[in-house]
Amino acid sequence: MPRRNIVVAHTRGFSSVVVLGLAVLGLAACGGGKGSSGAGPAAQTPGSRVYLQNCIGCHGPAGQGMGMQPVLPGSATVNGDPAALTAWVMFGVRPATMPAGKYPPMMPQFTYLKDDELAAVLTHVRSSWGNAATAVTVAEVAAARAAHAAP
Ligand code: HEC
Repeated sequence: MPRRNIVVAHTRGFSSVVVLGLAVLGLAACGGGKGSSGAGPAAQTPGSRVYLQNCIGCHGPAGQGMGMQPVLPGSATVNGDPAALTAWVMFGVRPATMPAGKYPPMMPQFTYLKDDELAAVLTHVRSSWGNAATAVTVAEVAAARAAHAAP
């Protein structure tokens, strides 16, 4: 009996440490959001919001990837021909700047995003993390969609 009590007490002690740890993490996250790091909701643009919702899980907050994805800052695909970039992200059409076999072919196609969402997120990756390529317009995305749908 006494032995069992010790185990229970130990378990309680452990879980309160975890709870305290989570509380501290939560406070740190709130504090960070208020800083001038650009991570706060106020700093979001339509493009960064689409990135956050669709791309960040694989490509990471700074476009560096998780080791299995190409690095987006300085990428020839990202900063090159907007039509080739759009066709890749929308339909998985592999551009010449992206040889097959270098990374696992695990990127979904984003056909379901609206033209304005795609234009915003592609413009975001072309103008973030040191990238300084031209914007991708809604008209360009619409043209890519129409061209792909054509027989
Ligand atoms: C499930 C993980 C995943 C998600 C989500 C994802 N990607 Fe990717 N992305 C990849 C992988 C893996 C590759 C490399 C694929 C290959 O070589 O076949 C890649 C390649 C790319 C490239 C080519 C980069 C280069 O240097 O050649 C671009 C641009 C890109 N992704 C943009 C995006 C954008 C924009 C989004 C969100 C709309 C997104 N990705 C969402 C996994 C992902």
